[in-house]
Amino acid sequence: MLPVIVTPGTTRENWPLRRQALLELFQTYEFGRRPELPFQVDAELTGVSPALDGAARREMYQVTVRTCRGAASLEMALVLPRSTSPVPTVLLLSNHDRVPAPAAPPDVQALETLMRNAPGDWAEQTKKLFAGMAGSPGPEPLDISQDDHTGYWAVDEIVTSGRAAAAFYASQAQADDRTRFPSGLTALFSDPAAPRPDDGWGALGVWAFAARCMVDVLERHPSVDASKISLAGHSRGGKAALWCAAQDDRIRAVLVNNSGCSGAALSRGKKGEVVASITAMFPHWFCPNYRRFGWREEEMPFDQHMLIAAVAPRLCCVTSGSLDQWSDPDAEWQGALAAGEAWKLFGFPALAGPRPGPGETAYSGPIGYHTRRGGHDLTAWDWKNFMRFLDLQGG
Ligand code: GCU
Repeated sequence: MLPVIVTPGTTRENWPLRRQALLELFQTYEFGRRPELPFQVDAELTGVSPALDGAARREMYQVTVRTCRGAASLEMALVLPRSTSPVPTVLLLSNHDRVPAPAAPPDVQALETLMRNAPGDWAEQTKKLFAGMAGSPGPEPLDISQDDHTGYWAVDEIVTSGRAAAAFYASQAQADDRTRFPSGLTALFSDPAAPRPDDGWGALGVWAFAARCMVDVLERHPSVDASKISLAGHSRGGKAALWCAAQDDRIRAVLVNNSGCSGAALSRGKKGEVVASITAMFPHWFCPNYRRFGWREEEMPFDQHMLIAAVAPRLCCVTSGSLDQWSDPDAEWQGALAAGEAWKLFGFPALAGPRPGPGETAYSGPIGYHTRRGGHDLTAWDWKNFMRFLDLQGG
């Protein structure tokens, strides 16, 4: 049974209280909470150059976060279309780097325990799935200081839609490496040598926090329409983007691409990646509490539809790749479908079945969904449709 989003007595008027309770669940059990410490965010313009053959202007920033423990800086790119008035802006939380870092070796013992304890035929199915993915290329590098031609950050699609395109590298906030957690921005908030509390934040929480710091900078920019800032992320970046938008209602829309397990996909009944495997492979992404739900999803006092719901009544577009079995398109769809309860409370339509097939979109309300043909990826096709979703829904 899925936990209920709209509990008896919840109304439009008192929704902020219910939303707060939902966020509290995710802070306690999944992403953890940021240690309370005052911080300050500043931006320095480090370069201006033409973009898209002169059709746009690229500004590069060094964004610095400071606490009493020190400072950490991240780059941000902002590509602005020619416009006389402030423009809506789409920020990408990029989990692709300029130069991909070497991956830390897996924790073999954790993986062996995972496989040994896996119920049913999960271990066998997973081995087959991984064998099928062997040899598939790793993430393409992304240089946010240049026009990107991979489709992962389709600046041309964004800018020709009349919006500005911004991006930053999540890894500059916190390296995506369990052997280097906590470091970077994370270390500004607590002593890296101190034991992590059970609800201490993990890398996804830190990346989400970095995205909100970028929003701090964007909303002060005179060419940005601060009422129309969208946040996009792919995969682990999609999980972090969703968590950021759930908490920060300055974000008008969130574009959650192939976020799978612990993102938009329901954990109950999920196939492919599950809580036990994601916490074994990426323990640094979550708070320590989350691990306890491995193979015990039915006992979770929450599920991922509640994370999506915390975005309501703002805009949210969830996507799947038709062949992305590790993420589980059906579980992503079920998450978005069940979250609709929250939008209904505000008189907006929820999603309704059947699930859109490969190449199809469902954009008739502020909670939208699409299925791209193919596997785990973020492509120009997704961006074209994200812009259409924003055009239709006022983002
Ligand atoms: C792995 C991980 C996923 C994640 C993905 C990605 O496959 O298991 O949870 O979404 O990497 O970020 O590309």
